[in-house]
Amino acid sequence: MTDRIVSRRPLEEDQQWEPTLRPRLWEEYIGQEKVKENLRVFIEAARARREPLDHVLLHGPPGLGKTTLAYLIATELQVGIRATSGPVLERPGDVAAILTNLEDRDVLFIDEIHRMNRVVEEILYPAMEEFQLDLVIGQGPHARTIKLDLPRFTLVGATTRAGLLTAPLRSRFGVLHRLDYYSDEEIYRIILRSAKILGVEISPEGAGELAGRSRGTPRVANRLLRRIRDFAQVLGDGAISEELAHMALERLEVDERGLDDMDRRILHTLIEKFDGGPVGLETLAVAVAEEKDTIEDIYEPFLIQAGFLARTPRGRTATRLAFDHFGIPPRARPQGDFWEVGN
Ligand code: ADE
Repeated sequence: MTDRIVSRRPLEEDQQWEPTLRPRLWEEYIGQEKVKENLRVFIEAARARREPLDHVLLHGPPGLGKTTLAYLIATELQVGIRATSGPVLERPGDVAAILTNLEDRDVLFIDEIHRMNRVVEEILYPAMEEFQLDLVIGQGPHARTIKLDLPRFTLVGATTRAGLLTAPLRSRFGVLHRLDYYSDEEIYRIILRSAKILGVEISPEGAGELAGRSRGTPRVANRLLRRIRDFAQVLGDGAISEELAHMALERLEVDERGLDDMDRRILHTLIEKFDGGPVGLETLAVAVAEEKDTIEDIYEPFLIQAGFLARTPRGRTATRLAFDHFGIPPRARPQGDFWEVGN
């Protein structure tokens, strides 16, 4: 699907644009105020001491700027950065090659760090703790371990699933931050900034219309902005007015709350097939023909925070807001599990 609005990883097109739109300095970075304030202090302190920054773990839903922050940390530390991801690091040699090539105090960014295999993860423990690499030379009875000194470095790990990290790995991070969805106002400011970089004119109302439908996610906002720019260029006069934004968003099938086709399918299935729930995640995943992990990592966090879906001990339920969104009257539930008429 080329016009997906929501995705786990940056699409090819995002990869092309994200470096252009990415804020490089704190002054340019909008939102995540608490994370920003703390990191600024830690970075300034580490820089003044000429020490590497403590290892940083960033977690939260996709598209909220974990990679952006990793690059920004390196820029603000005035050091280099090497970026890789958990699934790419297959063998211990892959990690060893990267670690031995770092410069003093560099940042090593590992995206999807929860997807590293055990052998690779265990190489990282002494590397993170003592800046040492334990290399096993030879095999069988002649095998021996030699220790290799590494440059001091900062590991910045990113994950959508902090809960899947092993305790030993998690405990080796000195700084842990959760990124949350951005407010509409922050997304609005991000859109104005991105529009300026892209050289597209956008009215305050047009930006507002777009902000409200971007699921509090900069990657979604920037993706929609690029699509709307296409509509403005081909069907309008190149500028994004409220009317044009509205028309383009309708055509992209992004509704007033930013729900896309899969969000609607999840909620509609819950309501129509399961009477609003509760229903187990696996059953729901089969019913909407989507992977369980994708629902859990990508769709559910937004639907929960937007108030459309709730997790209960007995499964997922559609909230009253979800019924209202589809114009379906909530039915009174015999055992009243989550929503009730009149609450
Ligand atoms: N583009 C993407 N994320 C951003 C952010 N947090 N601030 C400014 N521009 C952005």
